[in-house]
Amino acid sequence: MVLKAAAQPGATTPPRHVAIIMDGNGRWATNRGWPRLVGHRRGAERVKQIVRACPDLGVDWLTVYAFSTENWKRSTEEVLGLMKIFRRYIQREADGLAAEGVRMRFIGGRERLDDKLQALMSGIEARTAGNTRLNLTVAINYGGRDEILRASTRLAAKIASGQISEPTEADFAACLDTAGCPDPDLVIRSSGETRTSNFLPYQAAYAEYEFTPTLWPDFTPDHLAEILDRFGLRDRRFGGV
Ligand code: IPE
Ligand code: IPE
Ligand code: MG
Repeated sequence: MVLKAAAQPGATTPPRHVAIIMDGNGRWATNRGWPRLVGHRRGAERVKQIVRACPDLGVDWLTVYAFSTENWKRSTEEVLGLMKIFRRYIQREADGLAAEGVRMRFIGGRERLDDKLQALMSGIEARTAGNTRLNLTVAINYGGRDEILRASTRLAAKIASGQISEPTEADFAACLDTAGCPDPDLVIRSSGETRTSNFLPYQAAYAEYEFTPTLWPDFTPDHLAEILDRFGLRDRRFGGV
């Protein structure tokens, strides 16, 4: 159980949609003289805790960056190890997520993922499609530029078929992998890096950012609660006064 962000004078509501760049697993393991994959396994344990904490913290949408389109550059051992972690996460968490009212979705290109993982992804999406307590989106083989290219192709097809004549921002957003999801209010990156690494460049145009030095395997629901408290004090103007 995590305490909700305290209501303070002038405070806004908690962010509805939090997106997290879960970085620092490799360094966490290397600092201890352990293989990088140990850090990734610890990182996956943290995801479970953060997912459970979100509803109590007033967060309805959680999006986590698990594997980027650039992460294929890593060693075969690390990439295959990560894919195994993703498969296991879905297999082991499926019952719990379904019972806890979590709706799970994925963004990113699926073709390059192995068939078994793709089948598990579609399976859990279908199984949890009716859940509403928390919307969990996992970005696997996700890259913002890749997604924008995919969306542009979809939009072009709709224009060519006469379905749309004068495209609006809403028409474009409906072609993104995140169609139907609200934009993130807050993007958090762990591990001290202050870059966005191709994560939700279109959707996060008006998001608030928090960069924390904590490495992802050390990031607890208390860290999240503290960040949400600070978010509550921000003045979001969206270009107004
Ligand atoms: C984030 O941790 C997880 C993935 C990118 C898959 P890293 O593996 O990038 O950890 P560092 O940045 O090397 O410490
Ligand atoms: C971003 O982390 C991707 C994920 C967390 C999945 P990286 O570790 O891949 O990003 P860079 O290489 O430091 O920019
Ligand atoms: Mg990293």
